[in-house]
Amino acid sequence: MTVPWVVKYRPRTLDDVENQEDVKEELRSWIDSWLKGSPSSTAVMLYGPPGTGKTSMAIALANTYKLELVETNASDTRNLSSLRSIVERASVSGSLFGIRGKLIFLDEVDGIQPKQDFGAISAILEILRNTKYPILMAANDPWNPNLRDLRNAVKMVEVKKLGKIAMRRLLKKICTGEKIKCEDSALDEIIEASDGDSRYAINFLQSIAEGYGEVTEKLVSELVRRKERELDPFETVRSVFWARYGWQAKQAVSNSQVEYDLLMRWLSENIPVQYEMLNDIWRAYDALARASIFLTRARLSSWDMLSYTFDLMGPGVAMAEVEKKSPSWKAKWKKYQFPTLVQQLYKSKRTRDVRDQIIKKIGYHLHSSSAKIYNDVFPFFLITASRSSDEMAKYLELTPEEMEFISSSKVEEGITRETRTSTQSSEGTTRSRSTSRSRSRKS
Ligand SMILES: Nc1ncnc2c1ncn2[C@@H]1O[C@H](COP(=O)(O)OP(=O)(O)O)[C@@H](O)[C@H]1O
Ligand SMILES: [Mg+2]
Repeated sequence: MTVPWVVKYRPRTLDDVENQEDVKEELRSWIDSWLKGSPSSTAVMLYGPPGTGKTSMAIALANTYKLELVETNASDTRNLSSLRSIVERASVSGSLFGIRGKLIFLDEVDGIQPKQDFGAISAILEILRNTKYPILMAANDPWNPNLRDLRNAVKMVEVKKLGKIAMRRLLKKICTGEKIKCEDSALDEIIEASDGDSRYAINFLQSIAEGYGEVTEKLVSELVRRKERELDPFETVRSVFWARYGWQAKQAVSNSQVEYDLLMRWLSENIPVQYEMLNDIWRAYDALARASIFLTRARLSSWDMLSYTFDLMGPGVAMAEVEKKSPSWKAKWKKYQFPTLVQQLYKSKRTRDVRDQIIKKIGYHLHSSSAKIYNDVFPFFLITASRSSDEMAKYLELTPEEMEFISSSKVEEGITRETRTSTQSSEGTTRSRSTSRSRSRKS
């Protein structure tokens, strides 16, 4: 497994960051002001299109000033309390710039969903008021009305698209570093296609270099797809299974409109549909299992790990079929299935909604939280209510649908347990399309 070049060639210090001179200057004088004890502003928000170096500059800034980077992906920490505790622990404990100062970094702030991440913005605002450390944020699109309060509380710094000259220097450096032959005209094509997004450009360069061993204009113009189209789940699964080369599978995964947790389920469901040889199936599941481990690691520690997830679930699954390597191999057409879990979640959603309504009504009468009712009262309630349902219905003002829920036999055992786990897992996996897009481009 090769290291993604976007990770390998990520700038280490601010000096390594191409272009962005104004931004670097801004960041330097901001941190200097903190070091002098009179911060020019508590927080800075870097904003601009993907692949312009926002995340890189946060890391480089911390390296340059030998600060410990306390990083959290704002959109992923949908759990308000963990976001808060990560940042608060960092903000409250320790002295100003004690033995080793910290730089708090909230990446992809525009991914915060006010509905799901209820209170996240106000928590960040509170943290801004109390922090002892500089806070850096990054966003692709900060103009969302939900972010207005946040915008007003920080210094906004624009990060512009990378210029062509800078981009060329960047790509050249990599070609030299990797000792691969890159035609100048090929680089021109890549630069043109990437439109200032260096992540795209570097990934593109790597996929050609790895697939063909050299980067020529002819290859680039054949492969370049200026307008990337997002693949639906069926197309994604097909493109992965039908990919003859690793890079094709990788491209399919990173161009998919399906977010990665869900895509894993799609692949998982359809591996035994597509592959016929037991060994192929085994290898494919093995790759997928490892993809899932890296996904967890990406969530826990570093988003850079996500590249491995893509490598494993795209090329890993695609190359599991040994027959593919023979020249006579032909893709077999199969009819793919929806992941069962998705169907189940969909079906049980309505049931869960009804359950939650009942719990709310009970909670109203008992002056107790839904969680408490759910754990302590609801199981007994169901048993009692199914026996003396009429009085109960009247007292709680239950609707016929809610009555139906109570009286249906499966409720007593199944639903309460089963839905509990599925609610938890769905919380962990939902994410907005926009953020998962921007992340999937990292691969
Ligand atoms: N200004 C830059 N100078 C050098 N490399 C860059 C620059 N911008 C981006 N890169 C490269 O592109 C990759 C993606 O950049 P990143 O900082 O993650 O972009 P953003 O956070 O703005 O989407 C980095 O790993 C790095 O290799
Ligand atoms: Mg970023």
